[in-house]
Amino acid sequence: MLRKTALITGASGGIGLDLAVLAARDGFDCVLIARNEKKLTELKNVLEKRYQIKAYTFAADLSQADSVSRVLTYLDEQELTVDLLFNNAGFATSGRFAEIDPSEDIDSIHVNVVALTELTKRLLPGMVDRGFGRILNVASVAAFMPGPYMSVYYATKAYVLSFSEALASELDGSGVTVSCLCPGPTDTNFFNRANITLPFQSMPSHLVAFAGYRGTLKGKRVIVPGASNRAMVSLAKFLPRRLLTELTGRIQDPARQEQDTTEEDLAYSN
Ligand SMILES: NC(=O)c1ccc[n+]([C@@H]2O[C@H](COP(=O)([O-])OP(=O)(O)OC[C@H]3O[C@@H](n4cnc5c(N)ncnc54)[C@H](OP(=O)(O)O)[C@@H]3O)[C@@H](O)[C@H]2O)c1
Repeated sequence: MLRKTALITGASGGIGLDLAVLAARDGFDCVLIARNEKKLTELKNVLEKRYQIKAYTFAADLSQADSVSRVLTYLDEQELTVDLLFNNAGFATSGRFAEIDPSEDIDSIHVNVVALTELTKRLLPGMVDRGFGRILNVASVAAFMPGPYMSVYYATKAYVLSFSEALASELDGSGVTVSCLCPGPTDTNFFNRANITLPFQSMPSHLVAFAGYRGTLKGKRVIVPGASNRAMVSLAKFLPRRLLTELTGRIQDPARQEQDTTEEDLAYSN
C-alpha cells in the first residue's frame, strides 16, 4: 500500500508539533514546515526513530511572498504528494491597531491568511483528482467575534473559519474534507510571541491537537475543543455584536491589564 503524507505548517512547536506527532504515530510520512530549522530537525529525528516513518523538513518564512512556491518546488523535487494538509502556522499581534508596527500586522495576514489559502489552492486539485484528502485549517475561538486590541488577528481567524466552511461545502462528496480547528487559550509559545500573559485557563497543546486531528480524520467541519470554549462560542452567537465587541475589548484592553497587574502587585506587597 502506498504510504500517505501529511504536511504540517508551524511544526516547530505548540499545536503543530503535536499534530505532527499524531500523524507520525498513525504511520503518515510528515513534511515539517516552520522557520526554525533546528527544531524541525530535532522533531524529524524523534519521529523517524519512534514511529518508523519518513519525515522531511523545509525551513520557510510563510510571511514571504515566494514561500509557498518554494514549498511546492521542494515537494516536486522529493516527488511527494500531500494527502493531509495541516495549515496550522499562525501568530498574533496585540495592542492598539494604530500603534502596532505595520510590518508585523501585514506579516501576520500573510502567515495566517495568504499562505494558508495559497497552500490549499495549490494542493487541493491533486487531492480532488485522487479522490482523497484531509485539510485542517487552524483558526481560533477568536473567529467568532471581533477582537479590539488584537483586531487583525481576530479578523484573520474569522477569514479562516469562513473560508474553511465554504470550501467544505463545495467539496461535499469529493472524498476531500476541510475541517477548521477553533481552539481557545492553549498553553504554547503563542502568548509569549504576542506579548500577552497566558490566561489562567488554558488547555494543554496535545489535547487541542488531538481534538483537531481526530475531527479532521472524521471530516468534521468545525472543531472547538473544551467545554468552556464551546460555551463561549455559543454565547458569542447569541450576544448582540456590539456588546460582544465591547466585552472582548474590555478583557483585552492593555491599560486594564496593566491596572489589574498593579493592583495584584500591591496586594502582594501589603
Ligand atoms: N495558543 C493559543 O492559545 C491559540 C488559540 C487559538 C488558536 N491558536 C492558533 O494555533 C496555531 C498554532 O499556534 P500555537 O499556539 O501552537 O503557537 P506557537 O507555539 O507560537 O506555534 C506557532 C507555530 O507557527 C510557526 N510560525 C510562526 N510564524 C511563522 C512564519 N512566519 N513562517 C512559518 N512558520 C511560522 C512557528 O514556527 P517558527 O517560529 O519556527 O517559524 C510555530 O511552529 C496558530 O494558527 C494560532 O493562531 C492558538
